Amino acid sequence: MYEQVSHSLLNDILIGLDPKVDCDDLKHFYIRLGANFYAIHSLFHQLYGDRRDFRLQMHKLVDVMARQYTNRPTELRQRDLAREKDHDWFLSQKLAGYTLYCQEYADSINGMHSKLDYLQELGINLVHVMPLLDGPKGRNDGGYAVRDFRKIDSKYGTLQDLDRLSADMRSRDMLLILDVVVNHTSDEHEWARKARKGNKKYQDYYYTYSDRKIPDLFEQTMPEVFPETAPGNFTWNEEMGKWVMTVFNDFQWDLNYKNPAVFIEMIDIILFWANHGADVIRLDAVAFLWKKVGSTCQNEREAHLILQLMKDCCQVTAPGALFIAEAIVAPVEIIKYFGEDAVNAKECEIAYNATFMALLWEAVATKKATLLEKGVRSLPTKLDRATWLNYIRCHDDIGLGFDDNDIREAGYDPQAHRRFLVDYYTGQYPASTATGVAFGRNEKTGDARISGSLASLAGLEAALLNQDETAIDISIKTIILLHSMIASFGGIPLLYYGDSIGTLNDNTYLTDENKHHDSRWVHRPRLNWENAEKRHIEGTVEHRIFHPIKKILAIRKQIPAFADLNNREMLTIGNPHLFAFLRFTSSGIHSRVLVVANFDTAPQTLDLKELEAVNVFGHSQVRELYSDKVLSTRHGQLVIPPLGFYWLQL
Ligand code: GLC
Repeated sequence: MYEQVSHSLLNDILIGLDPKVDCDDLKHFYIRLGANFYAIHSLFHQLYGDRRDFRLQMHKLVDVMARQYTNRPTELRQRDLAREKDHDWFLSQKLAGYTLYCQEYADSINGMHSKLDYLQELGINLVHVMPLLDGPKGRNDGGYAVRDFRKIDSKYGTLQDLDRLSADMRSRDMLLILDVVVNHTSDEHEWARKARKGNKKYQDYYYTYSDRKIPDLFEQTMPEVFPETAPGNFTWNEEMGKWVMTVFNDFQWDLNYKNPAVFIEMIDIILFWANHGADVIRLDAVAFLWKKVGSTCQNEREAHLILQLMKDCCQVTAPGALFIAEAIVAPVEIIKYFGEDAVNAKECEIAYNATFMALLWEAVATKKATLLEKGVRSLPTKLDRATWLNYIRCHDDIGLGFDDNDIREAGYDPQAHRRFLVDYYTGQYPASTATGVAFGRNEKTGDARISGSLASLAGLEAALLNQDETAIDISIKTIILLHSMIASFGGIPLLYYGDSIGTLNDNTYLTDENKHHDSRWVHRPRLNWENAEKRHIEGTVEHRIFHPIKKILAIRKQIPAFADLNNREMLTIGNPHLFAFLRFTSSGIHSRVLVVANFDTAPQTLDLKELEAVNVFGHSQVRELYSDKVLSTRHGQLVIPPLGFYWLQL
């Protein structure tokens, strides 16, 4: 949009642009800056307009965007242009993601090259390499306490190694996701060190207070993220003689986005990693970006303004790079991180579907899809040009963030049901075979979350221990069923390393003084490559899990109706064990696919009369796409095997 005030400012800025900012072709930069500048100016003004140095800060911001544009490798600039044309590329059913720790998966960044083959064999083409940046040696929250945002930790390799990896991945048509921890730094970061030494400029990068007056006000309404290990939201720093806000661990200092210098530093860092080949940038803990006394300091309106501003700036310099919102918050809040627009994502194009993940685990425990169906129906419709990361496990705990009303409507008491789920997955519930570990028990509120590997939570660990073939079979079926769900629901399936070979809990963290207090380490093991090799041996657990998952991903890629185009219709089924939805597309041979999943350990019957309204079955038989078999529907019924799923082509 053309608007006089912002454009006359833009003219002034462009005249005074750093003479070092020079490159052959600034045409695309100028066009995009012109297109986005009104929005950038207005967002920056909403956040920082009351500052006397507003124009100067605005100038600095444009300088950063221009400088990073000139740094952007030609190959990536061309990719930007290609993605502009094919703007829905990330909604494709052809994407399949995988999260891994580079050290646990491949020893180092250089070790990754030879291990990409394994991922390609599985069908993966989008890889989230967990934080690689320089951090303190001891406690560093699994890399989420960053000491230097531009330096790769030497234990993983160097920046050149990463450049080589991203080039190798590009040549294999694989995409790279990297983290930028936008909410906080390690207390060993240079900014924190300077702040500790009394440097006022850097103390303003954080929330620092000489007495408890304001911290106490904050504490009245701020929940605790790690109540067991890091209670409270402030830490006293003796050297600085001040309290500093530390929402996560006491060594993670929250950045103060009320200071425009922080925003400008961070956009510079985001663009730096986009220029080093990150196709997608995972923005960590975005719900926490803005703190306000009297609020929970989560999901504040300004946090959304910051993300919009980050997106607008990134679109000027590196428009091909997408953002993932890591916002593990209530269902109605998660969806807002796409940005509130009619079609396009205005904040992050991709968000973790934490709601679906938790609902899937609920369905496994209850063997029923009642809450799953309600929860999915309650999710507001997402924007057209935005998508979910659908996952079963990740490096974090499972939070039971369902909507209380949905729980009640499903016939449970919210508190009792959450307690049941924690008991179930930590093996306290008599009929459960899960061997998870509680995480973040909060004695004050009674809340708890769950840690554990997919296989252990699905009962495989106990089943193997007891050499119980039936139980082994049930747990393997559960693992496969869950993967079929994330592959068909709509969005990008994101697998967690080790899950496709049934990796169990790893208790070695208990003997590590930097880890034993944090049960999330139970599901962050070294990948056992000897076990992975067993995927080639028929009859092994690894083979029985790996091949069905590989097949699920391969078949997903051939079903255009599985692309994420807001093309899902939930179906109500009388049988509470079954979960059913329709996926559709306007063209192609697989124009409508009915997905049915049975969460029970007994076969369950689908009464086809219930689906008459959606005119599902015109014929006496139907093709099931996963098994490529034809099933008879003549008797008006379909029987779904125990923990089975059907992808029925209509
Ligand atoms: C995110 C990460 C989590 C980390 C937290 C603080 O939620 O996924 O692992 O502990 O941010 O950085």
